[in-house]
Amino acid sequence: MGKIKVLDKEFEVFIPEAKIQESIKALADRINNDYKDKDPIFVAVLNGAFIFASDLFKNLTIDCQISFTKIASYSGTQSTGEIKTLIGLTEDITNKHIVIIEDIVDTGHTLASIMEQINLKNPASIKIATLLFKPNAYKKQIPIDYVAFEIPNDFILGYGLDYDGYGRNTKDIYVITK
Ligand code: IMP
Ligand code: MG
Repeated sequence: MGKIKVLDKEFEVFIPEAKIQESIKALADRINNDYKDKDPIFVAVLNGAFIFASDLFKNLTIDCQISFTKIASYSGTQSTGEIKTLIGLTEDITNKHIVIIEDIVDTGHTLASIMEQINLKNPASIKIATLLFKPNAYKKQIPIDYVAFEIPNDFILGYGLDYDGYGRNTKDIYVITK
């Protein structure tokens, strides 16, 4: 029980549904407290964060909005390598308080790129809420303000996170079995 196979790999339950929901509720309470009267815009990063964003958003009781963004990668010139641009997020966010919603922060490269591009839109502030954070893999200095779970450097799946596009549709979070 508690084991699943996705494509060629096997996974077992790592964080059960009840624990996920409990941690999201606690995180939402902190945000409700910190963003009272700030009228923030939450920016969820697709695809992985859609389930977490939904559960987090349902637990927010403050006045707030939500928008979605996605990173489109394409190959640039030899010197610049892969270029990442944000699609979506067409609202004017000038002087708005932004909370980025991520599924997982691993090395932090993705997050740094998103922050850089959101910063160009001159928001009042930017903070980050992530479901999962791998502190031992993190290579950036940007503080991660709201973390539901700090986890080791193992491959995680489910509750929005994928392995080659599959396995997002679970209520529990799974870890790859050695
Ligand atoms: P970073 O840029 O290294 O922080 O990686 C972030 C992205 O890598 C996430 O948005 C995920 O798409 C993917 N990722 C990193 N670790 C995992 C994992 O354990 N499971 C599934 N996807 C992961
Ligand atoms: Mg992702």
